[in-house]
Amino acid sequence: MTEVSNWQPGSWRNFEARQLPSYPDTAALAEAEQLLGTYPPLVFAGEARQLREDLAEVAGGKAFLLQGGDCAESFAEFHPNNIRDTFRVLLQMAVILTFGSKMPVVKVGRMAGQFAKPRSADMEEQGGQSLPSYRGDIVNDITFEEGGRKPNPERMLRAYMQAAATLNLLRALAQGGYANLHQVHRWNLDFVGQSAGEKYREVASRIGDALDFMAACGVDPDSVPQLHGTDFYTSHEALLLGYEQAMTRQDSLTGKWYDTSAHLLWIGDRTRFSGSAHVEFLRGVGNPVAMKCGPSLEPDDLIRLIDTLNPDNDPGRLTLISRFGHDKVEEGLSKLVRRVKAEGRSVVWSCDPMHGNTIKSGSGFKTRPFERILSEVSSFFAVHRAEGTHAGGIHCEMTGQNVTECTGGAAAITDETLADRYHTHCDPRLNASQSIELAFLLAENIRTELEKDERAAAAA
Ligand code: TRP
Ligand code: MN
Repeated sequence: MTEVSNWQPGSWRNFEARQLPSYPDTAALAEAEQLLGTYPPLVFAGEARQLREDLAEVAGGKAFLLQGGDCAESFAEFHPNNIRDTFRVLLQMAVILTFGSKMPVVKVGRMAGQFAKPRSADMEEQGGQSLPSYRGDIVNDITFEEGGRKPNPERMLRAYMQAAATLNLLRALAQGGYANLHQVHRWNLDFVGQSAGEKYREVASRIGDALDFMAACGVDPDSVPQLHGTDFYTSHEALLLGYEQAMTRQDSLTGKWYDTSAHLLWIGDRTRFSGSAHVEFLRGVGNPVAMKCGPSLEPDDLIRLIDTLNPDNDPGRLTLISRFGHDKVEEGLSKLVRRVKAEGRSVVWSCDPMHGNTIKSGSGFKTRPFERILSEVSSFFAVHRAEGTHAGGIHCEMTGQNVTECTGGAAAITDETLADRYHTHCDPRLNASQSIELAFLLAENIRTELEKDERAAAAA
């Protein structure tokens, strides 16, 4: 990577910054940011470089990216069981995907820092009262009440502490034995034992056979450290730029700047316009970065953004996360993929099947029909198959808890049962069993892709 010219951690301040809160007490804001700047980094630059290398494999069609977690983490739901359960479901999905794709799966949590939310309006009206919109626990309180809705900079320090503790637990779980491959497989067996799907049982039993065969050959978690644990990375939307700037440090080994609040940072669909402060900020950090791509993004603008964010065309630097909606992805994504390929740009293509499929249910809840989520994923694969590009990953909002926020799935959550356990602070998430079902479906899609390639190779 060549030197990023004309960039400083604070150069974004000269650009148009949308979606930032206006803090009433600017002295308190400056104090909190200054203090945060003295706190230890949450990740080490070398880890971010490792993720970039892993993602370069995805860009090259040799690996798959799995990214998932809460829409928004919250102070109220900060509990070891929540962290552990989401992590466990991600691992279960990863095993299924590794088997289905016969490729390594790069595991990235939307965790340990995913606190800030963009909103469509600055103010919210309720019963004749107008208060600042809720922008995530790192900014203000979700309760509609004057004091709590005032953006409070001290919340950044609390979010940092929560992210640090969350990341500490994730590191322990990933390397301490919890992520043991045989253990994760046993959880999958429990899942297929309870759920109805015959074809899922079939896949699980083939994974079991593979593990038994390996063990008979002397390859097991005791003899091979790779089976005992896994690499797990963190990510969040780089939205609250004051916080991100304070966490941005110069790497002592390379002299480059890294945003040490997470391994991977992304730019949302609302903050990727031309002249955006968020684009300016992320162009200068050495981390791998991602950008959400929705229906309003034109191919020309996309190429310009790629020029800005990845001028050296480094594989693994940039992930494009498409979020179109089940009925728009075919048309919208094809033209972007075609153009990026024609221009010879190396990117990771990942599919967010959540954000384009949010609807209001008859019972008034914000929900996402599971079949539309599956349909967007299938279309994403179809587009890449047609264009000859690698469908590289998936980005989902999910939780390990047994919530009822998205309708459908094997447990058949209906409009009427959404109210039972609707806990999200923001968007509706897949629950544990819906997430695992999604992984099985994905594995099937990937397998068809592989079998096609194999047939083509045999015929040639
Ligand atoms: N270390 C390997 C990997 O990360 C195998 C592995 C160990 C694994 N534990 C796992 C894979 C849990 C998925 C989930 O791919
Ligand atoms: Mn969301």
